[in-house]
Amino acid sequence: MNNTIRTMIVTTALTYANGEIHLGHILEAVEADIWVNFQKMRGNVCYFISGSDAHGTPIMIQAEKQGLSPEVFIAKMGAEQLADIQGFGITFDNFYTTDSSENEQLVGEIYQRLQKAGAIIRKTIYQAYDPVKNMFLPDRYVKGTCPRCKSADQYGDNCEVCGATYSSSELIDPKSILSDATPETRATEHLFFDLPQYADKLKQWLSGPHVAKEIQNKMQEWFDAGLQTWDISRDAPYFGFKIPGEKDKYFYVWLDAPIGYMAIFKHFCKLHPELNFDSFWQQGSKNELHHFIGKDIVYFHTLFWPAVLMASEHRLPTQVSVHGFVTVNGEKMSKSRGTFITAKHYLEKLNPEYLRYYFAAKLNGGIEDIDLNFKDFMQRVNSDLIGKIINIAARTASFIGKFFDNQLAAQLTNKSLLKLFADKQNEIADYYEARDYARVLREVTALADKANEWIAEKKPWQMAKEQGGSEELKEVATLALNLFRILIIYLKPVLPQLALAVEDFLQIAPCQWADINTPLVAHTIKPFTPLMIRIEESQIAEWIQEK
Ligand code: MSP
Ligand code: ZN
Repeated sequence: MNNTIRTMIVTTALTYANGEIHLGHILEAVEADIWVNFQKMRGNVCYFISGSDAHGTPIMIQAEKQGLSPEVFIAKMGAEQLADIQGFGITFDNFYTTDSSENEQLVGEIYQRLQKAGAIIRKTIYQAYDPVKNMFLPDRYVKGTCPRCKSADQYGDNCEVCGATYSSSELIDPKSILSDATPETRATEHLFFDLPQYADKLKQWLSGPHVAKEIQNKMQEWFDAGLQTWDISRDAPYFGFKIPGEKDKYFYVWLDAPIGYMAIFKHFCKLHPELNFDSFWQQGSKNELHHFIGKDIVYFHTLFWPAVLMASEHRLPTQVSVHGFVTVNGEKMSKSRGTFITAKHYLEKLNPEYLRYYFAAKLNGGIEDIDLNFKDFMQRVNSDLIGKIINIAARTASFIGKFFDNQLAAQLTNKSLLKLFADKQNEIADYYEARDYARVLREVTALADKANEWIAEKKPWQMAKEQGGSEELKEVATLALNLFRILIIYLKPVLPQLALAVEDFLQIAPCQWADINTPLVAHTIKPFTPLMIRIEESQIAEWIQEK
């Protein structure tokens, strides 16, 4: 085991402030939270931050629809998002917003550096303009007939029927979705970030251990296709930060959103003056920076964001970890089918740790989609977690209460099984580090099988019946509870609430990874009470969300 203490920032993607938190967001939060819990149990120093992504046209429009100022709207949404995510036991050190003074200042400083580096270019573009709302329209805000297949009612960026991509000016009979007016095409000057300037440096960075192989391959396709300059400005009206030195121009939300990671940490540093912001973000920082994101926003995190960091002379991410999308019973989450499941809906029906366990069983560090299958979910929780793992304690703990006054044996003579369990610790730690939680759970379940087989051989219930409270029974039950305790330490990053309940039952301090090596003997525990209840078939139907 590597004994140097690592210091790191871990982020999840900042969730758009106009949407409710759903199970896709929860997957990401759970994946990162497990990793963070593991790092903390190993003694590493880890700051886990996130927030809501507050700027952009959709948020401005949504606030307007609700008759709220954008500021009031995002404050309300941010608080709801945090509460929903926290319902799943996610342990952010700071959850903040991109619409902050910290962010405005950092965006301004970084923009200055980009200008100084010669990375900002001006170009005139032609864009749809709504003459009634008096604003430029993003392509998604124009609808019309597809120029290729002639399907009606298609968005201005691509056709959902034939898959064609185009710009909104090519639509037949285009209409603004905000006013129904026919958009005009107007010229406007925009600011662009000169991404191609950084192509070589990006290629070099991406050949390092910062992203998975499959992402490296994807990036190669993008490099082969050639990088384009990136439009970082938007015209008023826009909800965002004004661009210094420009009239009525704002930074595009995707410029200020990743800088939001820095700003959220800056805000955290204000609350913790012992931390030095610069030592985390300056070039060459030894502290680590880990981003957890979904596969739809890879381009932003592996090209734009590192290039902006390079151009502004900041450190680069240590790792960008990418996950796939949640599907439900094999299909994309869908509002009409009731499978677009919000965090709130889930929390009203089921224990959040069931879902943490299930997602962990599916997450392997790759980018394949993660299917939430209701039957499989019930099976894994009931059979594996409760039926195998928790059962080890359920079938042995009562003897300690009944015959030995809740006192564990003073020593363990049969150490081989204990050693077998503890010997897995480095392997399991490596799987955690690689985000292969599926493998962690397979190993833990295999160990649980071994423990259960051994208990079945020993038949403590028969010992109790034949000899009452013998020393042998005491040792069997004590060993079983020690095996159980090791498994709970292995599972603690995934199931912090269960671990807490077990720590209380065993009357022990919060478990750290190193505690695997110290058996629990000559120690008084509490009487056993059920740690988790099984999912009933009838609860599964309640997943479906009426909308
Ligand atoms: N605001 C941007 C991120 C800015 S980061 C500087 C954004 N927000 S989002 O709310 O749309 O998505 C937040 C995260 O949730 C992203 O990593 C995204 O990939 C993830 N997911 C959104 N839907 C998802 C699923 N159905 N399944 C799994 N993850 C998904 O993108
Ligand atoms: Zn079409």
